[in-house]
Amino acid sequence: MTSQKITAAASGTWKLGDRTVNRIGFGAMRLPQHGEAFAANAVPRDRDQAISVLRRAVELGVNHIDTAAFYFSRLRSANELINRALAPYRDDLVITTKVGPGRDPAGQWLPHATAGQLRGQVEETLRQLGRDHLDVVNLRIVGTDSIAERFGALAELREAGLIRHLGLSNVRPHHLAEALRIAPVVCVQNMYGIGAPSEQREFVRVCGEQRIAFVPFYSIAGSGRTAGAIADHSPEVRAVARARGVSAAQIRLAWTLHQGPHVLAIPGTGDLGHLVQNVAVGSLRLSEDELAVLDSFRHATG
Ligand SMILES: NC(=O)c1ccc[n+]([C@@H]2O[C@H](COP(=O)([O-])OP(=O)(O)OC[C@H]3O[C@@H](n4cnc5c(N)ncnc54)[C@H](OP(=O)(O)O)[C@@H]3O)[C@@H](O)[C@H]2O)c1
Repeated sequence: MTSQKITAAASGTWKLGDRTVNRIGFGAMRLPQHGEAFAANAVPRDRDQAISVLRRAVELGVNHIDTAAFYFSRLRSANELINRALAPYRDDLVITTKVGPGRDPAGQWLPHATAGQLRGQVEETLRQLGRDHLDVVNLRIVGTDSIAERFGALAELREAGLIRHLGLSNVRPHHLAEALRIAPVVCVQNMYGIGAPSEQREFVRVCGEQRIAFVPFYSIAGSGRTAGAIADHSPEVRAVARARGVSAAQIRLAWTLHQGPHVLAIPGTGDLGHLVQNVAVGSLRLSEDELAVLDSFRHATG
């Protein structure tokens, strides 16, 4: 399982609009700092180390990277690291970003962007990544309010050629239905993992039915969220991991990939060894019995 020879291609592919990606991707939120993301006192990560993780990911076949302009620590920005590590970008690389949330230069959270402010966030991301258009932009929201005005503003930027494809993040099914009345949606990026309640599993199914990618975040971190991976994995996860000779984190990741061919993983790490393990998960096939054991933990925290 930890063989350096397993590439992201082992996970299979999915199409985000007209762009084909391997189902194992990479999330850049962990790169700017050690420890908790967005923590005021976080220690910035060594630039060369972060760059080597990004380059190794691409060498291992990762061609879907998730990022955001608000992923930064005092001295590092995820987008600057991606630009430094990977530009000029390969034609097959899809960089997905998200707009809505924002932080001031000192790192303090700002109110979410209004429809009129989204263009500025898109342009900021273009500058940081050194690109003329963005492959996929997710509107990341909080709450249950209508997204029509904000998604409509992004649809205009898509029409203008600044954005190739649109997605949504942290949304409920009614948001997806609302967005689809305005423009095509290629992905939904929500928190999801072992132990997810049935309404979330139903949303994953609904996305698949509509050929929309479902991209879970915190599928390893679970309840650790911004703080990082949890240490107290459930007995079920530990039992399956032990039997397969892999880590609990790998089992958590593998479970997500087994929720449908449209589920794309974006595990985040600043650790080269973890990166190799995460890519190798694409070749791990769980049996029906193993999935039943893992699903028996559905209503717990994971
Ligand atoms: N749309 C949104 O609202 C939203 C919110 C959060 C995140 N995201 C995106 O989703 C991505 C994934 O989320 P995430 O990075 O928080 O969570 P994750 O992939 O679920 O877990 C990352 C945590 O697990 C550890 N880890 C990773 N691989 C491991 C392995 N093989 N063995 C043991 N530990 C491992 C990491 O630490 P090490 O660095 O030590 O490996 C880190 O603490 C983010 O990077 C970001 O791009 C989106």
